Amino acid sequence: MQYFKNTGAAIRVVIFSSVLSFGVITMMGAMMVAATGPALAGAGPEGIIKQRKALMKDVVLKGLKAMKQMVKDDFIDAEEAAKHMAKIAEVADGFAKRFPKGTESGFKTTAGPKIWVDGLDFEAKFTRFAVDARAASIAATQGDGAFKAAFLKVAKNCKGCHETYRIKKK
Ligand code: HEC
Repeated sequence: MQYFKNTGAAIRVVIFSSVLSFGVITMMGAMMVAATGPALAGAGPEGIIKQRKALMKDVVLKGLKAMKQMVKDDFIDAEEAAKHMAKIAEVADGFAKRFPKGTESGFKTTAGPKIWVDGLDFEAKFTRFAVDARAASIAATQGDGAFKAAFLKVAKNCKGCHETYRIKKK
């Protein structure tokens, strides 16, 4: 009998400690997410600049180009278009946080100095960009006309931000 009692206790200890460590790991994960916002954890200026450039090029520009082609061909794949717009919106969320002090220059950045002067306006422009992209992601499911109008609205954001907040490439 003694044997079984001990086993029960041992099992309880094992269950208790795994619940506990799961809890601790979950909590640590939540704390890490809360502390960093977009994944900037531990990245120096080079990593931060490279990452924001890559997102602009590989998600935002790539998505926009694919959708521009759909509009041009007058053949809109609603599901694909909605996916591109949702991805762009996700990238736009909190994007202004990818421009901390110390990342004003170097590593082929074309970020303009006004970002660090009119930070609130820069942030608001990304919020608007995300809102327009999310609206377009919904519009994609509402027919070609609705999508085309929403697409044009999203596309206007690029120039609207770049002309103020990017320097011309040398
Ligand atoms: C609210 C501001 C803002 C909006 C909106 C915006 N961008 Fe950008 N974009 C930037 C900034 C700032 C940079 C410079 C980043 C750097 O070089 O560090 C940039 C850089 C880029 C780059 C260059 C990436 C590289 O490899 O250097 C491309 C391409 C780009 N954006 C495409 C787009 C397109 C397409 C859109 C619209 C669908 C768009 N952007 C909307 C601010 C914006």
